[in-house]
Amino acid sequence: MTADHRSAALMDRIYRRQRHVYDVTRKYFLLGRDRLIEQLKPSSGDSVLEIGCGTGRNLILAARRYPDARLFGIDISWEMLATAGNAIARAGLSSRVRLARADATAFDPADLFGEARFARVFMSYSLSMIPAWGRALEQAIALLVADGEIHVVDFGGQEQLPAWFRAGLRLWLARFHVTPRDDLERVLTTLADSAGAALVLERPYGGYAQYAIVRRLSGATTTWTPAGGASACPGEVGPVRRSRTSGAR
Ligand SMILES: C[S@@+](CC[C@H](N)C(=O)[O-])C[C@H]1O[C@@H](n2cnc3c(N)ncnc32)[C@H](O)[C@@H]1O
Repeated sequence: MTADHRSAALMDRIYRRQRHVYDVTRKYFLLGRDRLIEQLKPSSGDSVLEIGCGTGRNLILAARRYPDARLFGIDISWEMLATAGNAIARAGLSSRVRLARADATAFDPADLFGEARFARVFMSYSLSMIPAWGRALEQAIALLVADGEIHVVDFGGQEQLPAWFRAGLRLWLARFHVTPRDDLERVLTTLADSAGAALVLERPYGGYAQYAIVRRLSGATTTWTPAGGASACPGEVGPVRRSRTSGAR
């Protein structure tokens, strides 16, 4: 059995029953998803890809929020994709939102969708379930058009929350094969530097979550501050801003 098949089988096992209650239960602890959708701000006609789209909840909200954008989603779990496909059809969005089964660490969107590059790629609470998550980020950055952005929201280090809460949360997450990526800032900094990209990273909600935006800078763009600012989140630790100043690729 390949790594792809093992991951797919595990995700299908986890979500076979949970997918039916996923949206109702997750809204209380997958914090920052609506803010991510609000900050995507694609231009008219832009293509937007969610990696690890789960039940399609984010794609549906993004399609409604950005009626001129074209939306795509991949997930490794057939179970989740079945729920997503039904939800998207019920929302009357099947013509605007396309889905495919793929592993975030190795997929070719040109083959899947006939779309090779994206203006926005986002990952919402999927990195913490992908074992080779650095590889998935590297691949996602390679899919960006010039001035395109990756938005990532996931569990953070819970630095400002009580130690008992942090320990309990981590034990509970481990039961679902979820591992907060404490190295996210370091890994994204390295990837952004080598891709000629700028990075902004925040730790909102007392570090409960981390939210990163990586923007691939075109030759014409040498500095960048994300629209909406970094202070819209309560309890943030503070943004890390890095701007490329020359030689953007
Ligand atoms: C916690 S859910 C998040 C779903 C959705 N993004 C959200 O915000 O509600 C994580 C999703 O990542 C998917 N996933 C895990 N490993 C993956 C991989 N290697 N490639 C693609 N998707 C993966 C799972 O099947 C699951 O649907």
